[in-house]
Amino acid sequence: MSSPNKSGFPRSACRLDRLLANLGYGSRREIEILARNGRIRLDGAVLREIGRVALTPDFSARLTVDGEALDPLPGMVLMMHKPPGVTCSHKEAGPLVYRLLPERWRRRDPALSTVGRLDKETSGLLLLTDDGAILHKIISPRRKVAKIYRALLACDLGGEEADLFASGAMMLEGEDKPLRPAGFEILGAREARVTLNEGRYHQVRRMFAAVGNHVVALHRETLGGLTLDENLAPGAFRLLDALEIEAIFAAPAISD
Ligand code: URA
Repeated sequence: MSSPNKSGFPRSACRLDRLLANLGYGSRREIEILARNGRIRLDGAVLREIGRVALTPDFSARLTVDGEALDPLPGMVLMMHKPPGVTCSHKEAGPLVYRLLPERWRRRDPALSTVGRLDKETSGLLLLTDDGAILHKIISPRRKVAKIYRALLACDLGGEEADLFASGAMMLEGEDKPLRPAGFEILGAREARVTLNEGRYHQVRRMFAAVGNHVVALHRETLGGLTLDENLAPGAFRLLDALEIEAIFAAPAISD
């Protein structure tokens, strides 16, 4: 399929049966049958000749399948409240974040992928997108999109964390490059907020392990200028609009 423009609509026209197949509605043959059975409508009128429809930018708003609005077009970004206990993976064993999405969305091409990963037991703000360019822009180390985590700890804070985390000289076990400076805010004797400009494997957990502590619960609150909706229940998700996607890149990074 051609790449989406800013509105998420394919730049060049493509056949409706191919678009619906890429959105997961079935094979092109199955979609032909859907149309023949009168289950696809444009402006309320049954559309049987799906192969010959010219696509226009307002098209998706006018189309229904089985009386339901068409799924979001390619180019979508989702905010999900990731619950603990699910893995950011397409194929690992056990509960996966993709299982929280509608079944049809799991058959989309291009596929939805998580923007980076959160550990299985980490909760909070997780983005998913089918737009590779947006995904790479967010995770690119050059962009330094800041991520804020709230950590609940097994032991009292020792007092050295703020300086060490901000130093730009902290080394994690098994690594040969120091961590970038990280922000640190005390929220309680055993609770703190950590701001990262990078995303190394299990980074927050390993930072606290390096000072003899243990993270009991970890929650991501923000990603760049985007904060997890307060009313988004664990496991729930919603589409981001273009302004919210821009906001991801608007927040200042911590300087190195
Ligand atoms: N740091 C961690 O340790 N885990 C995450 O999921 C994210 C950051």
